[in-house]
Amino acid sequence: MHKLLVTGGAGFIGANFVHYWLAHHPQDRLVVLDALTYAGNMASLAGCLEQDNFRFVHGDIGDQDLVETLLVDEGLDTVVNFAAESHVDRSIHGPDPFVTTNVVGTHSLLKAAKKVWLARGGRSHRFHHVSTDEVYGSLTSEAPPFTEASPYAPNSPYSASKAASDHLVRAYHHTYGLEVTTSNCSNNYGPYQFPEKLIPLIILNILEAKHLPIYGDGLNIRDWLYVEDHCRGIDLVLEKGRVGEVYNIGGNNEWKNIDIVRLVCQLVDEAVSADGKLQERFPVAPVVTGGKAENLITFVKDRPGHDRRYAIDAGKSGKELGYEPLESFETGIRKTIAWYLANEEWWRAVMNGSYREWIVRHYA
Ligand code: NAD
Ligand code: DAU
Repeated sequence: MHKLLVTGGAGFIGANFVHYWLAHHPQDRLVVLDALTYAGNMASLAGCLEQDNFRFVHGDIGDQDLVETLLVDEGLDTVVNFAAESHVDRSIHGPDPFVTTNVVGTHSLLKAAKKVWLARGGRSHRFHHVSTDEVYGSLTSEAPPFTEASPYAPNSPYSASKAASDHLVRAYHHTYGLEVTTSNCSNNYGPYQFPEKLIPLIILNILEAKHLPIYGDGLNIRDWLYVEDHCRGIDLVLEKGRVGEVYNIGGNNEWKNIDIVRLVCQLVDEAVSADGKLQERFPVAPVVTGGKAENLITFVKDRPGHDRRYAIDAGKSGKELGYEPLESFETGIRKTIAWYLANEEWWRAVMNGSYREWIVRHYA
């Protein structure tokens, strides 16, 4: 039995991880620590809060005393660190919280783990740090995918802050012997993703007949992974990963932005035109008014410093851990669209900032 501290567990991947873990490891105890920034959402943890082996703590990873208290009082043996500022565009407009949470916050977590777990001869533990492929920089179209040996070359304040945190995690292992692992993953998609990120933004804008903004020429490439496959990958790293090692997790699924947006347009059009109830709920959706979602595509000014291509070589995780993505893109993207169509209450509350009232209604 393990006792995990899941930081950032009310965010997109963290919440999916919590649902995944409770389903696959029902004997374990989970404590979620989340500061509930704009990206944190208790509604994404619906169904978990009632479970005896689950506890939610509202707090900051930068609060070292709080983290130490949780590690000691709950007897926690594992940290899975999802907590971060995660959106590249926000990091360009305002980098400060990225440095505060991703760098200083992660360092604070490391200090707490070191103090509690390495004290008095130490005890069995694992500090797993969730990171990103963006730390490796940008690939040309011919370059081979990133491996764990690719040099770090972060290009945005977001990726630079993640790179710094990765280095601190590595240093706490090398210098102090903290038992760490790190995973660097490609772009995730799936349920509970905040609609500032490309795929949910496109789905929801189609339903409301808003423009679909494509940065630059739309030919930037990302390697998309269904979020549950990421969660499974982290599970495998925790179970079989070697302490001190880094594991890449990816989808082997490269798409140009414009192609992915066109695909989402086609699938949302199909879903809405096949279902009269959806037509009633989304009366301005292009297929309802006689148009096509694709007509909403609008090329806009490029993101400054926009990385051209990411691609992950997950060969090491495959060989050492038996990792491979299980969800095909065909099924994953359909599931994701179906989830957003079925969970309008969730995304409306996120979009108008009223999800806290939603929690009161459901949990008061
Ligand atoms: P997210 O923005 O959806 O969620 C982040 C969560 O962290 C939120 O719940 C937020 O409230 C919480 N948080 C922020 N600052 C905090 C603080 N100081 N203390 C405690 N909690 C805090 O992010 P996400 O997309 O779920 O990403 C999770 C992690 O995975 C991040 O570390 C990110 O770098 C990494 N990652 C994301 C992707 C992706 O495609 N989304 C891919 C690879 C790696
Ligand atoms: O690669 C992993 C990373 O993926 C994670 O570390 C980040 O936390 C996560 O946000 C994501 O970063 P990206 O910048 O790749 O994701 P985003 O959804 O913001 O953008 C995906 C691509 O789509 C990117 O090339 C920019 C483009 N884009 C994005 C938005 C929001 C558009 O063309 N229009 C848009 O409106």
